[in-house]
Amino acid sequence: MNAEVLLMFVLGVNRAYLYAHPERELTPEEESRYDEVLAQRATGMPSQYITGHQEFWGLDFVVSPAVLIPRPETEHLVETVLELARSIPSAKIVDVGTGSGCIALALAHELRTAEVCAVDLSAEALEIARANAARLQLDGRAQFVQSNVLQALTGIRDFDFVVSNPPYVGFGEADKVQKSVRDFEPRLAVFAGEQGLDVIGPLVAQAHAALKPGGWLAVEIGYSMRDSVLSLLDPTLWQDARVVPDLQGIPRVVAARKR
Ligand SMILES: C[S@@+](CC[C@H](N)C(=O)[O-])C[C@H]1O[C@@H](n2cnc3c(N)ncnc32)[C@H](O)[C@@H]1O
Repeated sequence: MNAEVLLMFVLGVNRAYLYAHPERELTPEEESRYDEVLAQRATGMPSQYITGHQEFWGLDFVVSPAVLIPRPETEHLVETVLELARSIPSAKIVDVGTGSGCIALALAHELRTAEVCAVDLSAEALEIARANAARLQLDGRAQFVQSNVLQALTGIRDFDFVVSNPPYVGFGEADKVQKSVRDFEPRLAVFAGEQGLDVIGPLVAQAHAALKPGGWLAVEIGYSMRDSVLSLLDPTLWQDARVVPDLQGIPRVVAARKR
């Protein structure tokens, strides 16, 4: 699979071309370029950082080592928000820890009159998210803000949705994370303090202030974080809490509505 993806990248062709032209031989330049990218891949670098692209929600996203590579599991968060947004036509959405912008821009793509605000602590990540918005022609309805969680938006209290796939791996769990993630993906995108709750904790508190009454918080969570995240949702402040499993039955999204 990787050999194919990298060959398509070097030749600038799609998979159909590869299979339709088995007789095609590489020129010496193509061969040496292919050797180069194979050597990069052999260091463990994910192929997406070599090709600079990853598909998410059927859309093509540019990625660099400044952003997490969008994961298919995160599409559950997009699905959850779309389901909840059915009765809110021009939703105002903030995506905390936007990275490549995949969640914010997939939502803007589906919800044609929604406005999205994409927040990240990393200026480099915001550059990539901005580029993706422009490539997908969604920049007219997307704003980009550098902020520690929602601090830079203090005083804004009218969001319909606060959505996030925050970093959620604890420092102590580093050995449970794939080596390629540890070695190549941004530390800021993966780790969040000793227990993995250092961003989700402040996010729950600040989301409550940023949402309008009845607005939804929807957060992707890590394996086995269900109970610790649900316990952050004070029932006097939040209602209708729900947990959405992924295709393997692992709790993947927690959503709750501001009272
Ligand atoms: C797990 S990645 C998610 C990226 C993207 N939303 C996705 O789903 O592929 C988490 C993102 O949160 C950002 N981040 C980490 N700590 C943050 C903080 N305190 N405030 C805002 N963003 C933060 C990281 O830079 C990273 O882009």
